[in-house]
Amino acid sequence: MKKILITGAAGFLGSHLCDRFIKEGFHVIGMDNLITGDLENIKHLFPLEQFEFHHHDVTKFVHVSGKLDYILHFASPASPIDYLKIPIKTLKVGSLGTLNLLGLAKEKGAEF
Ligand SMILES: NC(=O)c1ccc[n+]([C@@H]2O[C@H](COP(=O)([O-])OP(=O)(O)OC[C@H]3O[C@@H](n4cnc5c(N)ncnc54)[C@H](O)[C@@H]3O)[C@@H](O)[C@H]2O)c1
Repeated sequence: MKKILITGAAGFLGSHLCDRFIKEGFHVIGMDNLITGDLENIKHLFPLEQFEFHHHDVTKFVHVSGKLDYILHFASPASPIDYLKIPIKTLKVGSLGTLNLLGLAKEKGAEF
């Protein structure tokens, strides 16, 4: 079974991507620190064996055990209102978050 990490999993795009990849037969790891997201968006996935949720800030070191085939990085505040409220965190998730996830992709040989 292919394994995919989706960051921003509790957000608008990330939650739909989790649904889509579960339907496609992937093992999905959803990662989110819930800064703008909502677990309501993915709570229907929690009972599934093919889904796991990691409450984690991707600007910190990101670890996933075992193999990993793909990473979709959709964690980021998305609205101009949020950018103004949390500008540094917005910059960090696009820079440090991307750097951490690229490092993970390199370590695992995963497609980013
Ligand atoms: N919504 C759109 O129509 C649209 C269109 C084009 C591009 N985008 C881009 O796609 C991305 C996601 O957009 P969205 O609408 O799903 O936003 P969203 O706010 O609904 O989801 C973003 C998710 O990222 C999480 N997040 C933020 N910082 C994090 C961190 N440091 N660690 C872990 N999780 C973190 C939030 O908690 C949230 O659940 C953004 O970069 C946005 O600019 C969105």
